[in-house]
Amino acid sequence: MVVVLLFDLAPKTSRKDLYDFSEELENLYRSYRSARLVAVVGPRRAGKTSLILTFLNEYSVPHIFVDCRVVSLSEYGVSFRSFAESLSNAFNAFLNMHRGFADRLLSLLRGVRGVEVDFSIARIALRWKRRERFNIAAFLEALNMFAENEGVRLALVFDELQELSPLNLDFSKLLAYTYDHLRNLVVILSGSQVGLLYDMLGVEDPESPLYGRLVSEVRVRRLSKSESIDFLERGFSEAGVAVNRHVVEEAVERLDGLIGWLTFFGWSYVNGVRDLENIVDTASRQEAEEVRRFLARTRSEKRFRTILKLASQKPMRWSELKRALEFSEGVEIDDHNFNTLLQRLIKAGLIEKRDEHYTVPDPILAAAIQKHI
Ligand SMILES: Nc1ncnc2c1ncn2[C@@H]1O[C@H](COP(=O)(O)OP(=O)(O)OP(=O)(O)O)[C@@H](O)[C@H]1O
Ligand SMILES: [Mg+2]
Repeated sequence: MVVVLLFDLAPKTSRKDLYDFSEELENLYRSYRSARLVAVVGPRRAGKTSLILTFLNEYSVPHIFVDCRVVSLSEYGVSFRSFAESLSNAFNAFLNMHRGFADRLLSLLRGVRGVEVDFSIARIALRWKRRERFNIAAFLEALNMFAENEGVRLALVFDELQELSPLNLDFSKLLAYTYDHLRNLVVILSGSQVGLLYDMLGVEDPESPLYGRLVSEVRVRRLSKSESIDFLERGFSEAGVAVNRHVVEEAVERLDGLIGWLTFFGWSYVNGVRDLENIVDTASRQEAEEVRRFLARTRSEKRFRTILKLASQKPMRWSELKRALEFSEGVEIDDHNFNTLLQRLIKAGLIEKRDEHYTVPDPILAAAIQKHI
């Protein structure tokens, strides 16, 4: 069997498997040491989760890691139930890794409303039904107390937090409280839909409780062309597969520096799928799922879809895009309404403005929109 490390599809968790990004890794560590609220942002498939997991692992940071995408994909949808279950699981995973202090931590949680504690198997269950719902602020206070007693900075990670925006929970208020009073907790958030994430937190909204609190931002970037080529060549060499330079360059041209898609290409190629278009199509089907989930949550699904289709064909100026939408719908559209829709797509990372032109930023996303949406 071929052992591939660089092209392994799971998020990376150790420095030896993480290509490059040592600067981002150090940035994240510095933010963790000095800030209270950290946001890891970057395009889809750019390597945010890998960066966070590698940081937590390499620096042995005590952490509770909640994958908010799992919450939104649960059979109960984004609900207090699925949130409470994911948080319970994340907390129990933390306990599992640190059996030595499980009893001390559980003792602190025993009195918190809505937290069921089982000392015999060192687990908790957070209650979610309306009347007996767990008290999240008190839960965090207990975690903070524990971190203070142990002399550690406990990281609370919410990967892709914007997925929880439909939840009836004021994250802005909760995080402002954590920021001001729970000084041994560091909250690390990640988001590929950075505008939606910041809207949800209200960091730029004077009315929001979080307004004025400093968010330390770590940006995960696309790889340059030469880095992308180097990444693929290293991966192929590690897998012992000889690949023509021309094939590598063509893939890099098509995949636009997104390490997740480069990894997917490398993995597919090593496993016998050699046709680039075929690989792009498989990737774009995955991406289409994400777009569909976004559209399903909006009120103007049809209009959003048309704008995305138009912008995925070629970069367009504001007025050109609006006219094309009007032509497609056969009605005139108010400037303000059109702009609101466009801004929302930008915030969701589905459209980008480059040199006065609106475009779909990622080629896989563009293929997904054209073929599968
Ligand atoms: N620095 C890296 N070196 C090697 N492989 C990486 C690196 N970063 C990410 N990958 C690979 O790219 C893919 C996507 O990574 P990851 O899930 O971390 O990205 P992401 O930005 O969190 O994606 P998403 O937007 O889907 O949440 C995975 O297959 C992962 O193994
Ligand atoms: Mg991720």
